[in-house]
Amino acid sequence: MQEKFIARCFELAKLGETNAFPNPIVGAVIVHNEKVIGEGFHRICGKEHAEVNAVNSVIAKYPKNHKEILAESEIYVSLEPCSHTGKTPPCTELIKKYRFKKLCFAISDPNPDLDQNRLKAFKAIHNNGTEIVYPEELSLETKNNANFINRIFFHLISLKNKQKNETRNPSWINIKIASYADCNMITKDEDQWITNSESRKDVHRLRSTHDILITGINSIKNDNSKLNIRFSAEELNLADIKTPEIVILKSKQNFTENEKKNLNIFQYHHPQEYKIEDVAKANSLKSVLEELCKNSPQRIMVEAGPKLAESFLKQDLFNEITHYMSLKGCDSLYNVKNIQAHVFFQNNKIIQILDNILKHHQNFSNHKLKIIHKELINSKCGETPDLKIVISKSL
Ligand SMILES: NC(=O)c1ccc[n+]([C@@H]2O[C@H](COP(=O)([O-])OP(=O)(O)OC[C@H]3O[C@@H](n4cnc5c(N)ncnc54)[C@H](OP(=O)(O)O)[C@@H]3O)[C@@H](O)[C@H]2O)c1
Repeated sequence: MQEKFIARCFELAKLGETNAFPNPIVGAVIVHNEKVIGEGFHRICGKEHAEVNAVNSVIAKYPKNHKEILAESEIYVSLEPCSHTGKTPPCTELIKKYRFKKLCFAISDPNPDLDQNRLKAFKAIHNNGTEIVYPEELSLETKNNANFINRIFFHLISLKNKQKNETRNPSWINIKIASYADCNMITKDEDQWITNSESRKDVHRLRSTHDILITGINSIKNDNSKLNIRFSAEELNLADIKTPEIVILKSKQNFTENEKKNLNIFQYHHPQEYKIEDVAKANSLKSVLEELCKNSPQRIMVEAGPKLAESFLKQDLFNEITHYMSLKGCDSLYNVKNIQAHVFFQNNKIIQILDNILKHHQNFSNHKLKIIHKELINSKCGETPDLKIVISKSL
């Protein structure tokens, strides 16, 4: 039962993926007699935490007797409740105040700011009569999911711990790749799209959950992409949507006046929503990235063709690859399983897949790439399923 409530916390947490950053995404559920009576999630960095929103939802529902109800309830949270005063008061105080029957959380918070207060806070909750279920008591799958949904937050914290004197802002770079099953990234003449409509919708969600979208001048010229978000927040399972800042990289080429007038990117975005960066002038891709992150940490998504994607990979400027592989032409699930096995069982094969995409063999062998998420994306429109593979090198 508790795993089911924690799974609901994960769903709620993901609703806040647009604006909780650089805070973690967190969901909380309040359960009374095995029934969910309140839910909350962390929506905006610096604003109410998930636990507070969940408690408030119960207060709104039971304005007169919420205290008694909360004291008879269990609270489930996808991440350890905070025990320090940051931009908001400690959630452990809230849990203590309402004397919940039980607290269960899915993963510990590695934030070093909590180290001083944690023991005292949890002891106080326990002494107040609340049973505490720690992550160690939950299934491996639940712990893995808790780790997966907040991998960007955990990555930023580990960088913060490792590089205490580093003045540069950390970033998270996710390279999005769409390909056919043979790993070709260029759309065939007979197709309008490589991947199915649900994968393309998922890409819109990715855009909304990143702060910067980097693309290359060729993709803009060849595809005439709009690079906007054409779904509602509800359709993308998000509380809010936002268009990331678009950065178009070029070095030798330029946009002609005619292209500036006619290309979709310039029609669909205000001039403050995009910029064109000359990588040759900036000296390197790395210096462009440093400049982009100079004021705050940024989640960067690279949505470009093979040439630019290859540069990011070769220069080791990435944390993750989100690969949507179309299974068109694979005539049965047997083939799908083969692809998964092909990718999964031999570490080198992951690299080989990237090699296929990028037509390169050297330089990747030092990466410890790992598949951290695989799912079949079925389309609602009768198209063939796609395989979504998230490959990470930092976990
Ligand atoms: N399947 C997918 O996921 C996907 C996604 C996007 C696009 N595409 C396809 O990819 C095709 C374009 O591919 P592409 O690889 O030629 O274009 P691209 O990756 O969009 O852009 C490459 C251009 O970026 C500029 N650039 C600046 N710094 C660079 C660096 N360090 N390394 C590499 N490039 C740098 C260069 O501009 P200069 O020429 O000015 O030097 C280069 O020509 C499009 O036709 C599109 O259909 C596929």
